[in-house]
Amino acid sequence: MSSTNDFKAVRKAVFPVAGLGTRFLPATKVMPKELLPLHDRPVIQHAVEEARAAGIEEFIFVTTPRKELLTKHFTPQPHLEKMLEDVQNCEIPKDKLFETYQQDPLGLGHAVWCAKDLVGDEPFAVLLPDDVFIAEQNCLSQMMEAYETHGGNIVAAMDVSKEDTARYGILDIKSDNGKIVEIKNMVEKPGPEKTPSNTAIIGRYILQPTVFDHLATFDKGAGGEIQLTDAMARLIGNQPFHGLRFDGTRYDCGTRLGYIEANIAFGLQDPDMNKDIRKILEKYNANA
Ligand code: UTP
Repeated sequence: MSSTNDFKAVRKAVFPVAGLGTRFLPATKVMPKELLPLHDRPVIQHAVEEARAAGIEEFIFVTTPRKELLTKHFTPQPHLEKMLEDVQNCEIPKDKLFETYQQDPLGLGHAVWCAKDLVGDEPFAVLLPDDVFIAEQNCLSQMMEAYETHGGNIVAAMDVSKEDTARYGILDIKSDNGKIVEIKNMVEKPGPEKTPSNTAIIGRYILQPTVFDHLATFDKGAGGEIQLTDAMARLIGNQPFHGLRFDGTRYDCGTRLGYIEANIAFGLQDPDMNKDIRKILEKYNANA
């Protein structure tokens, strides 16, 4: 076990939501991608609820003036509160919700750097709301447990097909017990020819604040963007760095097809809808 002596609990979560959402245009021309509904609530609310259930106390949104509706969703709306308990449940208390702007979408690494002052000198979680999960224990909670054992930095990990390695940050693996992966390097979107493995980083991270020092160099990486993967890679060797192959199924709401699949899967989880969705699917299957 390689736990650090200066173990600190993870209390804060960063939600980078300042991207352009180009893959969903024109739906996202004025509507933030993160407010599109997944089953009965906006995509972003799934990530916020996951963080809350994992013990997160402070919620930091890296957003843009174009998306002011996004954080508004988590503020009280008195005219609706009496109507639905669920409306109250999605509120974040005023003193626990923080916002900072990323003026230009220079990349995920830059978005995380924008949260530097709000995070301060303590470990923190990052949740990319596009990634949603159906799991018995939520993904971030599983990572919190791994963090208690291993300390340092933890990323969610999942095996993907070799062709898909051009879409993800990919782990170069030192040791692997099937669940916990010790990482010796990581590379952003390597593609099938160059990839060191087929184990990808999924959008949940527990990071030490030292990562901000590496982000502050603003080096551009894959796609000309300031990449979080490049800054995380520079932590390896100085701090424990592990991937956790989480239990559960991940859906990618950042693509149109993934978003449709997620809505079907979450709908099927709902006992009030399950039967009817199955009927609809059967109808389309029969006509295929
Ligand atoms: P994506 O790569 O999915 O970009 O970002 P996007 O803008 O959301 O969507 P497309 O690719 O144009 O369709 C992954 C996450 O990082 C955030 C996004 O909001 C998303 O949650 N992000 C990305 C930022 O906050 N700032 C950036 O500069 C880039």
